[in-house]
Amino acid sequence: MKFLIINGPNINMLGLREPVIYGKQSYSALVELIKRTAEDEGIEVELFQSNHEGAIVDKIQEAYSVFDGIVINPAAYTHTSVAILDALKAVSIPAVEVHISDVSKRDDFRQISYAGKACIKTYMGLGFDGYVEAIRYLKGYLSHAAGERSFDLK
Ligand code: DQA
Repeated sequence: MKFLIINGPNINMLGLREPVIYGKQSYSALVELIKRTAEDEGIEVELFQSNHEGAIVDKIQEAYSVFDGIVINPAAYTHTSVAILDALKAVSIPAVEVHISDVSKRDDFRQISYAGKACIKTYMGLGFDGYVEAIRYLKGYLSHAAGERSFDLK
């Protein structure tokens, strides 16, 4: 199984950026955690971080028929980007949304998630553990889906 992990704008600033909200750990610490989790779960991962909406759209499009699942934290683009929503719908690769902070308890403008409308599940407010949960959930979801497909063929 091959997963693409996408992080949007300012996630590369973790550690420095509003530590009270996002914690003191850096983006490289997050990368390490994701790689370790993937190895433990027997999943191949590629990580992608960009501060540019179009680059994220390009990456989602390129994921078609390459990746089995996507874990995405679109960061600020969560609340603005119909383009990322449309890209996720276009490739229709099962995707799980992650937010480090609990966006449901934050500003009004963070209450809408466009990308979330194309995701099978959302984890928020769990810090970095949200990515771990997302990878495990996606693995379970895809294993189950594969089982159902083979059952359908009988
Ligand atoms: C975030 C929440 C977003 O509202 C914010 O713009 C981010 C990070 C999170 O992980 O909690 O950049 O996606």
